[in-house]
Amino acid sequence: MIDVLILAAGKGTRMQSSLPKVIQPLSGQPMLSHLLETTQQLNQVNMHVIVGFQADKVMNAFDQQPINWILQEQQLGTGHAVQQALTHCHDDSQVLILYGDVPLVKHQTMVMLLENAKQSGFAMLTVNLDQPYGYGRIVRDHQGQVMSIAEEKDATLRELEITECNTGIMAVSSCLLKKWLPNLSNQNAQKEYYLTDIVAMAVKSGVEIFTSPADPEEVLGVNDRVQLAQLERILQKRRAAALLQAGVTLIDPARIDIRGEVTVGQDVVIDCNVIFEGKVVLGDGVSIAANCVIRNATIGNDVTIEAFSHIDMVIVGDHACIGPYARIRPGTVLSEKTKVGNFVEIKKSTIGAGTKINHLSYIGDAIIESNVNVGAGTITCNYDGKNKHQTVIKDSAFIGSNVSLVAPVEIGKAATVGAGSTITKDVPDEQLALTRSRQINMPWQSVKSKLKCSEEK
Ligand code: UD1
Ligand code: CA
Repeated sequence: MIDVLILAAGKGTRMQSSLPKVIQPLSGQPMLSHLLETTQQLNQVNMHVIVGFQADKVMNAFDQQPINWILQEQQLGTGHAVQQALTHCHDDSQVLILYGDVPLVKHQTMVMLLENAKQSGFAMLTVNLDQPYGYGRIVRDHQGQVMSIAEEKDATLRELEITECNTGIMAVSSCLLKKWLPNLSNQNAQKEYYLTDIVAMAVKSGVEIFTSPADPEEVLGVNDRVQLAQLERILQKRRAAALLQAGVTLIDPARIDIRGEVTVGQDVVIDCNVIFEGKVVLGDGVSIAANCVIRNATIGNDVTIEAFSHIDMVIVGDHACIGPYARIRPGTVLSEKTKVGNFVEIKKSTIGAGTKINHLSYIGDAIIESNVNVGAGTITCNYDGKNKHQTVIKDSAFIGSNVSLVAPVEIGKAATVGAGSTITKDVPDEQLALTRSRQINMPWQSVKSKLKCSEEK
C-alpha cells in the first residue's frame, strides 16, 4: 500500500497570478494533473493532496478525481504539511512525498524510490546542481553516509559549498514518519517545521537512508513564469521524442506542441508549429502541414491537412484533404475522400464521401450527402437571429458559386443551383434552380444618351 502525499498548499507569490500555482497550465493542463497522472500508474495508491492557498480553486479543478484533500490552513512548513496528512496514512504503508510544483518526476523514478525505501524504510531523491542556491544541501560524513539536510537559510558557509541538493522527494515508511514528525521543532531561520529535519532523526535512531541522484530536468520546480516556460519546453521535448519513437516524422521536434494525448498510426508526417490539444487520433499516412491547430479530433488514414488549418472536435474519414486555411468546427464529420479547401468554415455538419467544398464557404448545421460539389463562396444561412436551421443537400447535387442557401432548405438529388442564387425554397431532385435576375447587354452609347435625356428633363 502506498500513500502518495502531494504538497500543494503554498501560494506561489512569484507567479504574479490570481491562480494558485499548482493549477497554472502546463502543456494546457493544470500543473498538478501531471503528477496525478504519473502517480496513478503506481499500484495500490491512496492519493492525498495538501492544499491551503485558494484550496477551493485547486479542488474544483480536479473534482472528478479520487483524491483525499487535506486542508493545511496555515502553511507552517513542509514538515507541518506532512503532519496534517499522517492520520490519513495507513500504519504499514509507504509514504511517497511529492511537491505540486515539481511536476515532471517520472513513473520509473517513483518506482525506484519506493523500491529503495523497502530496505530501511527511508529513501531520498537528491540532485547535483552547479547552482544549488535555494535548495537544502545534503550533508554527508567521511564515509559518505547522509547525516542531515541543511536548508539554505540555516546552512554554514561550508555547507553552502555542497552541490548535492535535496529534491524534497522521498519515500518513507508511514510508521517512521509517525514516530518522527511529532518531534519536529521550528527553531530555525524560517521558524518553520522542516520535513528535512527527519534526516537527522533517522541518523540518530540508526535508520539508513538510501539516496539516488535524479536527472535535474525531472526535479526542476516552478517558482516563477521563467521556470514554468522551461518546464513546458522539457515536457514538449519528451512528448516529441515519444512521437519520434512511435515512428512519426517530425520535421522539427522542437517545433510541435502536444497539450493532451496524440495517438498515431504508421508513417505520419508532421511539419513545423503544429499544436495538438485534447485527445487526437491520427491514422496511417496522415500528413499535417505547418501551423495547424488540431483539437479533440479523429483523423483517418491517408488524410492530408494543409497549412494553417484549424480542426476542432471533428471526425475525418480516410483520404480526405483539408486546407490550407480551413476551419472545421465542433460536431463536423468529413467522410472519406472529402475535399475542403481554403477559407472554408464548416460547423456541426456531416459531409458525405467525395464531396468537395473547395473555396471560401460557410457550411453550418448541414447534411451534405456524397459527391456534391459546393461552389466557391456558397454559404448556408443557418441563423435567423433566434434559431439555427438545417440545410440538406442530397447526393450528387451541384451548387454553383456564390449561392446563399436560406435554411431550412433541401436541395434534391442531382439538382443544380445556378451561381449567385439565393435559395429559399426546396429544390426537387434533378431540377435546376436559378434566382438571379436576367443580364441585360446594351451598347454603351445608348446608355449615355438615355442618361442625357433624364438629366435634361
Ligand atoms: C524545500 C526543502 C528543500 C529542498 C526544496 C526543493 C524543506 C524544509 N526544504 O524547500 O530542502 O531543497 O524544497 O525544492 O522541506 N508547502 C506546503 N505547506 C507548507 C510549506 C510548503 O504545502 O507549509 C509546499 C509548497 O506549496 C511547495 C512545497 O511544499 O509545493 C515546497 O515548499 P517550499 O516552501 O517551496 O520549500 P523550499 O523552501 O523550496
Ligand atoms: Ca520551493
